[in-house]
Amino acid sequence: MSHLLEVDHLSVRFRERPVVSNLSFAIDSGEVLGLVGESGSGKSVTSLAILRLLDAAASIEGSIRFAGTDLPSLSPREMRGLRGRKIAMIFQEPMTALNPVMTIGRQIAEAIETHQPGLKRRQVRDALIEALHAVAIPEPERRLRDYPHQFSGGQRQRILIAMALVNRPQLLIADEPTTALDVTVQAQILSLLKDLQRQFGLALLFISHDLAVVAQIASRVAVMRHGVLLESGTRDQIFFHPGHAYTRSLLGAAPTLTIDRSQPLAALPAAETSASDPLVEEAPGHWVRVSR
Ligand SMILES: Nc1ncnc2c1ncn2[C@@H]1O[C@H](COP(=O)(O)OP(=O)(O)O)[C@@H](O)[C@H]1O
Ligand SMILES: [Mg+2]
Repeated sequence: MSHLLEVDHLSVRFRERPVVSNLSFAIDSGEVLGLVGESGSGKSVTSLAILRLLDAAASIEGSIRFAGTDLPSLSPREMRGLRGRKIAMIFQEPMTALNPVMTIGRQIAEAIETHQPGLKRRQVRDALIEALHAVAIPEPERRLRDYPHQFSGGQRQRILIAMALVNRPQLLIADEPTTALDVTVQAQILSLLKDLQRQFGLALLFISHDLAVVAQIASRVAVMRHGVLLESGTRDQIFFHPGHAYTRSLLGAAPTLTIDRSQPLAALPAAETSASDPLVEEAPGHWVRVSR
C-alpha cells in the first residue's frame, strides 16, 4: 500500500550548508506522526520543503510524494492549488499568520473562496460558521466580524485551525502549534487537534521540540537532530524502549512534576550521529541510527 505522504532521502542545503540530510519518513491517511528535535534540527525546513515554501537559497534533493504525486515536479500554480486544499498547515505564532486589519470572518471566507470558487455567499458563510463551531469559538455568528487582536492567543490558534481545516485537507502539518501558548491553553489546543484529527480522519504531521507534547498526540514518533533522523518507531517504542542515546536524553530532559529541580537536566550526548551511519531495525517498525 502506498503512503499518503512519502518523504524519501530528502536533503536540504542552504548555500552548501546541509540542514536536512537524507531524511526519509512516511505518513498514512488518518495517522499522526510526531517529528521531534531540539531547536535548529531542521523540522521547520522539512515542513517548508514539503510545502515548497523554502526560498531560492535552498537546494533540495530527494523525493516528496503526496497521494502518489511527486510534489517537486508540480508547477507553482498546481502547488498553490494543493496547498491549503489537500495539505494545510498551522504554525507556531498565530498572530503573524493572521491579517491584523481583516475580520476573521473575511479571512476564513477567503480561504474557502480561494479553493472552492463555486460556492455561493450563503454556503461560504455557513461553512465558516461551522468551522468556528468545530474549534469551539463561542458565538461564531457574532464574532466573525471581529479582528484578530480581539481574540486571545489560544482563540487565534483555534481560528487558524478552523481556517486550515475548512477545505477538508487530507494532511495537516502543524509546526509547533502550541509552543507560543501557555500550558493550560496548550493542553486545550492539543485535545482539540486530537478530536478534529479523529473526526476528519486527518493525517497529521505534528512537529515539536517537546517529546512530552508529541506523546500526547502522535501514534508514531520520529526523532531528528542536526538534520539527521536518529530514531523512529511507535510512540510506545520511543517512550519505553528508546534506542538512541539522544532520544533517552530528550526523555530525561522532559520536565515532569516529580523532577528534582536541584539536579541538573541530563546532559545531551556529545557524540554526533551522521546521516551515513546505518539505520537498524531493532524491533518491527522501530529504527535506530547506530554510530559506526
Ligand atoms: N532561510 C534560511 N536560510 C538559511 N538557513 C536557514 C534558513 N531557514 C533555516 N535555516 C537553518 O536551518 C537549520 C534548521 O532550521 P529549522 O528547520 O528552522 O529548525 P527547527 O524548526 O528544527 O528549529 C537552522 O540551522 C537554521 O538556522
Ligand atoms: Mg521550527
